[in-house]
Amino acid sequence: MALKSTNPTSTKSWNKLQLHFKNIEHRHLRDLFEADPNRAKDLTIQWEDFYVDFSKNRVTQETLNLLTDLANEVDLKDAISKYFGGDIINATEGRAVLHTALRSSKDSEAFVEGANVIPGVFEVKQKIKEFTNSVSSGEHKGFTGKAITDVVNIGIGGSDLGPAMVVDALQFYKNHLNTHFVSNVDGDHHKEIIKNLNPETTLFVIVSKTFTTQETLSNANSIRSWFLESLPQEAVANHFVAVSTNIDSVKAFGINENNIFPMKDWVGGRFSLWSAVGLSISLALGYENYESLLDGAYKMDNHFKTANFNQNIPVISALLTVWYNNFFNAESEAIIPYTQYLNQFATYLQQGIMESNGKSVDRSGNPVTYQTGTIIWGEPGTNSQHAFFQLIHQGTKLIPADFIGFVKSLHGNSDHHDKLMSNYFAQTEALMNGKNEKEVLAELEGQSLSDDKIKELLPFKIFEGNKPTTSILINKLTPESLGKLIAMYEHKIFVQGIIWNIYSYDQFGVELGKQLAKTILKELNNDSVANLHDASTQQLVDFYKNNC
Ligand code: F6P
Repeated sequence: MALKSTNPTSTKSWNKLQLHFKNIEHRHLRDLFEADPNRAKDLTIQWEDFYVDFSKNRVTQETLNLLTDLANEVDLKDAISKYFGGDIINATEGRAVLHTALRSSKDSEAFVEGANVIPGVFEVKQKIKEFTNSVSSGEHKGFTGKAITDVVNIGIGGSDLGPAMVVDALQFYKNHLNTHFVSNVDGDHHKEIIKNLNPETTLFVIVSKTFTTQETLSNANSIRSWFLESLPQEAVANHFVAVSTNIDSVKAFGINENNIFPMKDWVGGRFSLWSAVGLSISLALGYENYESLLDGAYKMDNHFKTANFNQNIPVISALLTVWYNNFFNAESEAIIPYTQYLNQFATYLQQGIMESNGKSVDRSGNPVTYQTGTIIWGEPGTNSQHAFFQLIHQGTKLIPADFIGFVKSLHGNSDHHDKLMSNYFAQTEALMNGKNEKEVLAELEGQSLSDDKIKELLPFKIFEGNKPTTSILINKLTPESLGKLIAMYEHKIFVQGIIWNIYSYDQFGVELGKQLAKTILKELNNDSVANLHDASTQQLVDFYKNNC
């Protein structure tokens, strides 16, 4: 069944939230903590190895009650059961959204058009497992009999960002295979990667759900030509595998049927790392670790499906975004992981969140009259503290931030880890409390400055504080905990889409640019096509053609 369509602004709770917002808008987090000694405890959810403290958000219990009322009024429960039940919730593309089925247990069931997809999921997983084991053990050999040393993932968007982020994040668990990612159609990208590779010991994994993506096919073609400069055509079978739904086009590219890892159209690109798109993850980390990643996501799925909304991490997290986005008019959200391993996490989430919820038409086909998807950005702490934190602390914009930290480090160097985590705690504390006039004054007075100097410096040194953060503290970065974290954000995306009454699983907005690029490419290759564009674009194209 289709998702219901309810304009969130027409609900009773939205109206109540608007009134409530007027009362709470200027309340300082300091006051909220003073008013409620149990606040920190009450607004923290401890679940498995996750400790999520929502208390440094600009909400009261009443705010959270009203936000959960909103979730109930738009019938989030019904939407969740349709999401997991394989209903066609990606209505604009006529598809189910079942990435959750990819990490579900073997005895579970998930139906698409009346057929249980779970047996098929496990068939593909078995194929991934066998292939991973044969490559990493050296049993699968290159054409000249040498073991594989390097794996190159060729894909873009969801066929790159997820695997690249996970392999980077879990590099501590990596095996001996070197893993590389080619995505950009910029020829310098693949050239830089292949220049140090030996074709005899390299495996290329071409990943494209559609197998029509210009970037991926161009990179795959160029890399295959480079490969064929040193090895014969028959060698392609040992060195090229593909992941796709488009089996005919993969075969037409010259890939052996046995080397195709199929995926299904009910898996969206940006949610596909749990499918065969994760082959590079399995190759890089070993199948067991890949499975632990999936198990973690499965655990988060169960938490999301069963926990009451007021104890549900993805639900609360999504509701807070709605609160800041639609009532405080915050435009962006920062993701700040306190681990270098999650260096690519914000980039990965940019696709997940912005491609999903960057929509302006509601589920009834009407333009929305309220804000939807937020702008996502971020970098690991502590580096980001020395880059953009100034703006979060003292700028004019409200930027709610997720602080992701780990209790235990992987390297075991407690000196570094304590320093890292002291910054994690200090930043959320500083963002919340700020530094008021009295405190700044006391500080300046202790610095033997003249009264005039103190007066001059005072306004610049005041921090307003009251900047909201959510502290996500996880025991340790493992394949399982990363799986939970990714799934947490996936469900957050879903909940936001339900509340905003938009379709989160299509991405028509990226099509226009692709179409125009095809036309312009013809023009760049053929002088006869001209004057198709606006004056600015035409001028730029002409300048390029005359000077390239
Ligand atoms: O950028 C649009 C998009 O369709 C993404 O949603 C997708 O992840 C990416 O292109 C790559 O698509 P494909 O896997 O089909 O090559």
